[in-house]
Amino acid sequence: MNNFSKMPDFDESIGKQWHEDFQGLMHKARENGCGVDDEFGAQQEIYTKYAENYDNLMNSEVEQYVGFNILANAINEHFADKSFRILDFGCGTGLLGEALHNRNFQNIDGSDCNSGLLKSAGEKGFFKNLYCGRGTANLPTERIYDIICSSGTFFLSRSHPCTEVFPDLIKLIKRGGSLIILTKKSYLDKDYVDWGIVKEMLRKNIIEEVERVYIPGYRKVFEFEKDRLSMAAILHYRVLQ
Ligand SMILES: C[S@@+](CC[C@H](N)C(=O)[O-])C[C@H]1O[C@@H](n2cnc3c(N)ncnc32)[C@H](O)[C@@H]1O
Repeated sequence: MNNFSKMPDFDESIGKQWHEDFQGLMHKARENGCGVDDEFGAQQEIYTKYAENYDNLMNSEVEQYVGFNILANAINEHFADKSFRILDFGCGTGLLGEALHNRNFQNIDGSDCNSGLLKSAGEKGFFKNLYCGRGTANLPTERIYDIICSSGTFFLSRSHPCTEVFPDLIKLIKRGGSLIILTKKSYLDKDYVDWGIVKEMLRKNIIEEVERVYIPGYRKVFEFEKDRLSMAAILHYRVLQ
């Protein structure tokens, strides 16, 4: 027996509608592509529509999303210093930040481009600062973070953050600090993900790869997916300069 779909006041029909709206849009966008700005507008409209139900949706039968917990466990295993300054990038309602907070990390900021989702994140009451902007817009400009982390946000589609934001994110991380991203493994091979940017940063010793690990059970397997294990990928880079 799992914990999914057990919220007393959650209407399951919302889950079905979300699945059609959001996963339908993402699947189409990943397979066929469409204009980035049109797609961005469409994904943001859907996030806003479901903002109040987002946490229930992620915890429901339709999504069974646990990626944020997988990443919080990995961060907790890697980093003993709970006072580290952390940015949950693309935090949405703050599920990853919350999972880190539950593991005693005390110094967590969040950023996202959706004000509705950020409102929910703010209501959780532990984020020190929340920044609203697309990509890295409106983030601080100094190297202040020990860790920038992100779950379920990178590579979802062309209009979600991809490697193009790495160079700007790296500039906010202290030397020796970490960029740690959890995504679905199958998204790493999408044609819109430009690994040349990362290769160049590795070649110039701006970053080094600490590890790349694959863990099953990112979320529910959808009917249109070939990967029946729902593999998550954790990409961990250390900032060298
Ligand atoms: C699937 S949600 C994941 C949210 C959260 N990290 C989690 O684990 O639940 C993806 C998030 O990425 C944000 N997002 C999408 N495109 C973005 C962009 N170009 N820049 C910044 N955030 C973006 C969305 O607003 C949304 O909150």
